[in-house]
Amino acid sequence: MFWKNLQKPFFVMAPMADVTDVAFRALVAKCGAPDVFWTEFVSADGLYHTREINKMKDEENPIMRDLMKGETERPIVAQIFSAKPEMIAYAVNLVSKLGFDGVDLNMGCPDRSIERQGCGSAMIKTPETARKIIRAARSASSLPVSVKTRIGYNKESLNEWLTALLEEAPATITLHLRTRKQMSLVPADWELMKKAVEIRNHVNSEVLLIGNGDVQDLDDARAKAAESGCDGVMLGRAMFGNPWVFAGRKSFDTPLADKLAALVALARGFEKISPPKNFAILKKHIKAFVTGFAGAAELRAKLMETESASALALVVAQHKLSEQTFSRTSL
Ligand SMILES: Cc1cc2nc3c(=O)[nH]c(=O)nc-3n(C[C@H](O)[C@H](O)[C@H](O)COP(=O)(O)O)c2cc1C
Repeated sequence: MFWKNLQKPFFVMAPMADVTDVAFRALVAKCGAPDVFWTEFVSADGLYHTREINKMKDEENPIMRDLMKGETERPIVAQIFSAKPEMIAYAVNLVSKLGFDGVDLNMGCPDRSIERQGCGSAMIKTPETARKIIRAARSASSLPVSVKTRIGYNKESLNEWLTALLEEAPATITLHLRTRKQMSLVPADWELMKKAVEIRNHVNSEVLLIGNGDVQDLDDARAKAAESGCDGVMLGRAMFGNPWVFAGRKSFDTPLADKLAALVALARGFEKISPPKNFAILKKHIKAFVTGFAGAAELRAKLMETESASALALVVAQHKLSEQTFSRTSL
């Protein structure tokens, strides 16, 4: 089980819908790999029903796109969600056959459409269902099962909620240090990680705890791990515009030319995803990479108008050329 072989504190990639796809993960792997990669979240019900309705093989299922993975991203955990144990068992089996190293259960997403299915954060209100889901996942394959959740629903409820999860003995639990009600509107409460570690030590000391929320870079992650005693730290938004974050770089350390080259590489990888994703999904990365320098807004506006990787690469090349012309004429 790879979790037990990681050196502590370890630093992992947060699962992020429409961000941590196969193209983004390949870029991060090249720039500086985290100790563990995570996919975007995938609906177990969606996987199953799309296959059944269309009477297709798993390999033909378009939702399998979200479970694409490259050779450079290891170890990698697939994140799934469902409120139905039989759907979880089906998806865990599939993830296991696809060669993932672990499976993660989403019990923290605040999105209403996910909660309406009894999934994501709604699980915090139904700990008995959450327990059944973990059990179903654990018995479906030999893959290590982990859980990602929040510290409570309307208010912090670590004593009840974390204890229930620990009793089911997943390999790891990631705590996004906010309640469902807090969404992402208030700072993550890292003080509570100490309380979580105490509960873990008391209830089930075998389970690894990962802290998550507002971590800026690797220095910040190391400080937070040392202060709170958690085993690992998960970084999400810190990867935006800085795929070098796990190599220890701060966002401002990287020259613009390297950022633009990374953006082009990402766009090229994004276009290889099959079935194709809407190019608009990629555009959040344009905002993140092209910022904080004179002329950023202008370049960003041009890049935002592009509809393909080659068009984006052309704008970048033209920018490079105009920069060179500018520096020659200003000599
Ligand atoms: C665009 C976006 C997509 C996300 N998608 C997921 C997801 O699919 N599964 C999940 O467990 N959390 C998801 N999250 C939550 C992140 O994994 C993480 O918990 C949150 O961003 C806080 O960490 P950070 O401050 O390091 O970004 C998402 C967050 C963002 C901003």
